[in-house]
Amino acid sequence: MKIEDVIEECKLFYFAGQETTANWLTWTIIVLSMHPDWQEKARHEVLRICGKKTPDLKDISHLRIISMVLQEVFRLYPPVIGLFRYTVQTTDVGGIFIPVGVEVVLPTLLLHDDPEYWGEDVEEFKPERFSEGISCKLT
Ligand code: HEM
Repeated sequence: MKIEDVIEECKLFYFAGQETTANWLTWTIIVLSMHPDWQEKARHEVLRICGKKTPDLKDISHLRIISMVLQEVFRLYPPVIGLFRYTVQTTDVGGIFIPVGVEVVLPTLLLHDDPEYWGEDVEEFKPERFSEGISCKLT
């Protein structure tokens, strides 16, 4: 890589990594302030697992409530609200035929807000949706 490439990669990390993570954490703080019951559960878990020391990777992997809260915030307020792809050849996506030269949009925000996948309480903050992890939710 040339130094110019490294500089461009650093810019991408800054944009892709900083804005997304900052939005995610900001929403998490807002949502927890609106739901003191989950705030209390989250605080209790952090104190139980990490105590007063600086958390390490092992501690973080045991933060189950925190993970559920973060997943639910991701669902309700995804930092990236859509994905865009451009077909460079004819493409078959699950039986849907897409010709070459089409821009395909995957509307993350709409999928996260669809009662068909999440139930009628789709607009509610309910971290318990993720008590079994994430893979089961879209089956
Ligand atoms: C809450 C945090 C984050 C979210 C929600 C997020 C989301 C995403 C999404 C959805 C994409 C795919 C975009 C696409 O293909 O159209 C992506 C790509 C990328 N993200 Fe993140 N991201 C996060 C954090 C980070 C961090 C911390 C970094 C780096 C320090 C980072 C670096 C990148 C890079 C470099 C790509 C482009 C990968 C490629 O296509 O070559 N992201 N991110």
